[in-house]
Amino acid sequence: MIGRFLIVAAICVIGCQAADITLMLKNVSVYEGETATVPCDYVTSLDTSVPPIIRWHQLDGVDRKRLYIFKKGDENLTGRDASVSRDLQIGPNGELIIPNTTLADNALFNHLSCEVEFGVAGTAEDSLTFIVARKASVDPVTNPDKTNFVMNGDYQIIGNCVSDFAYPEPILEFYKGTKLLQTTSENGNMKVERAPVQGFLSGFTEGKQSTKTPDGLTIKVQDTLLVNLTGADDNAQYSCVVRSGINNEFVQNVSFPRIRVTYPTTSVVVTGDKNPVKAGDTLTLTCAPNGNPDPIISDFGGQQTSEYQVKVSKTDDGQVVSCTAGNGLGQSITGSYTVSVAYLDSPTVTGSETVRKGSPINLQCDAMSNQQVNYMWSKDGADLNVNQATYSLNDADFMDSGMYKCTATTAAGHEEHSSRQVTVNGIEFYGSDVKKSGDMAVLSCTFLSNPGPKIVWMRVGSDVQMPGSNSSSNKDSFTSYLSVGPLDSSFKEAEYTCKASNEALPSQIAQETLNLKGIAILQSPTEGEVPEESSPPIAGIIIGILVALLVVAIILAVLYNKGIICKSDEKGDENAEDIAVDINKDESPDDAESGRKPDNEEEKLMNGNDQ
Ligand SMILES: *[C@@H]1O[C@H](CO)[C@@H](O)[C@H](O)[C@H]1NC(C)=O
Ligand SMILES: *[C@@H]1O[C@H](CO)[C@@H](O)[C@H](O)[C@H]1NC(C)=O
Ligand SMILES: *[C@@H]1O[C@H](CO)[C@@H](O)[C@H](O)[C@H]1NC(C)=O
Ligand SMILES: *[C@@H]1O[C@H](CO)[C@@H](O)[C@H](O)[C@H]1NC(C)=O
Ligand SMILES: *[C@@H]1O[C@H](CO)[C@@H](O)[C@H](O)[C@H]1NC(C)=O
Ligand SMILES: *[C@@H]1O[C@H](CO)[C@@H](O)[C@H](O)[C@H]1NC(C)=O
Repeated sequence: MIGRFLIVAAICVIGCQAADITLMLKNVSVYEGETATVPCDYVTSLDTSVPPIIRWHQLDGVDRKRLYIFKKGDENLTGRDASVSRDLQIGPNGELIIPNTTLADNALFNHLSCEVEFGVAGTAEDSLTFIVARKASVDPVTNPDKTNFVMNGDYQIIGNCVSDFAYPEPILEFYKGTKLLQTTSENGNMKVERAPVQGFLSGFTEGKQSTKTPDGLTIKVQDTLLVNLTGADDNAQYSCVVRSGINNEFVQNVSFPRIRVTYPTTSVVVTGDKNPVKAGDTLTLTCAPNGNPDPIISDFGGQQTSEYQVKVSKTDDGQVVSCTAGNGLGQSITGSYTVSVAYLDSPTVTGSETVRKGSPINLQCDAMSNQQVNYMWSKDGADLNVNQATYSLNDADFMDSGMYKCTATTAAGHEEHSSRQVTVNGIEFYGSDVKKSGDMAVLSCTFLSNPGPKIVWMRVGSDVQMPGSNSSSNKDSFTSYLSVGPLDSSFKEAEYTCKASNEALPSQIAQETLNLKGIAILQSPTEGEVPEESSPPIAGIIIGILVALLVVAIILAVLYNKGIICKSDEKGDENAEDIAVDINKDESPDDAESGRKPDNEEEKLMNGNDQ
């Protein structure tokens, strides 16, 4: 403990402020009438079990006037300096308390210092600013000089502005609308401050001035607004803003009356209500010249009005419309506007028109426009979900024939369309058939074709076209029939060719050769007898039914004997046997043996079972 003391003391002998004590003072501001509490905060690494002595001073140049001394727990030492008449108090941590502050306190306590002393271990001191404030309570007074000006290339006085008395000194600013005007030198462009001039128009003194009240406790500020006026100041609203109080937190804003500035026309602005404008639409053009007094339009598209309407076409794109105006204060001015017309021509569709089946369809849609064009395709009224200028389809089929429509649109709202008829043609063999009809054979060939085909029949080995062909069509499918006969053995080796061609593809022929070998009658010796020819299939069917019934009867008989059906009912057994026999007898009288067959088999099975 003693060792450390000595080290700190030794350091301080070298002449430093104790590095171990750091004061953290803050400036204090209060409004008059409030009680001010001024803390003396510090941090230290020194032993604080023995409280430090705190001394408050008012600094006055090099002089230091003591106000208060404080040591915690030492009432004999603590107390206001005998020379101080102002009521002062001390807080539990050495805060200086100034009750019932007045503006006069600014002179007494504006530059306070706090000294913290830890005996021989070290001392530190710092200062702060103390302010008792009064805000401006009355709005600033603006004195407009006049409201009508003539632009003259030099600074002119708009008026001046005077604040209320306040403390500390209020800040006075000028605004044009929401824009703060910079206080600049003579060469600045918006506002200048100049030395006061005598004999000033409205009697007030030009330039910035600060004035104290006789007691010296409060200050008012006044300033003059000078502007090198231009046309842009016509109808401008200037205002005076005064900021006062602690941190200038209190803001007052008083406007000057709007001013008018007489100036020549310097710009003529021509505008269109739509840019770009759709071809065919009406464009409203407006000419807006500046200048005060109001300018006169001498020529705006050949007229003297400030607005006119024109129906635009594609050829108006890029056309320049000009407007000339002036107000007599200078030369007339001409402004111009370039018309931008958005147009979209009806598209042209090129590409496939007639396509061979199996080949691709390629269509191209082009619409002249100075806008971004979007394309859509549909076929026979059905959307194809293609959104580009080209439409492609591989391997076209007959059903892809149709009216292809391309619709072009632009963001400007144009819509134009064109169509193209595409025909898919071709011819190919589809299928054939040979049938018997009475004593005739009917041959048929079906072709897929577009356009409809011409189908001819020929007997192989003959160049003669066969008569009696007949055809029917179903969309792109065409069938041709050929009846031949009456059939006899001479048709056994006969072959026929059906040939199809269509007018669109003269070089293309589809053909098929048919023969009559599949027709059973040709193998029968009794040729040409219609009833007999037709009986074999019917006889076959009847025999098939009889065999089926016989099998059923056998099964029923077996089941009966095995006792699965009607085991205890002898009558049922007999009936089943009767039916089986009857059926066989009825339909096959010459096969009497077969009626007994089931019985024999049945006996065999029963014997087998017994063994
Ligand atoms: C203050 O002074 C009185 C009288 O001189 C004395 O009795 C008392 O002990 C002192 N108090 C302290 C804390 O020094
Ligand atoms: C000083 O302020 C206190 C309250 O802070 C008040 O009671 C007292 O009347 C005031 N004194 C004067 C002289 O204004
Ligand atoms: C306190 O006020 C003085 C004088 O007004 C100023 O120079 C200083 O920066 C202020 N200190 C703080 C911490 O605001
Ligand atoms: C006032 O502004 C005009 C145009 O902006 C300029 O030509 C003129 O020099 C300015 N006058 C002064 C005194 O700065
Ligand atoms: C002051 O008022 C005027 C008129 O209402 C306004 O244009 C301007 O922006 C205001 N200024 C401030 C700093 O609020
Ligand atoms: C020939 O055509 C007629 C009329 O279209 C039809 O009624 C007839 O069935 C056809 N003949 C053959 C053999 O298909």
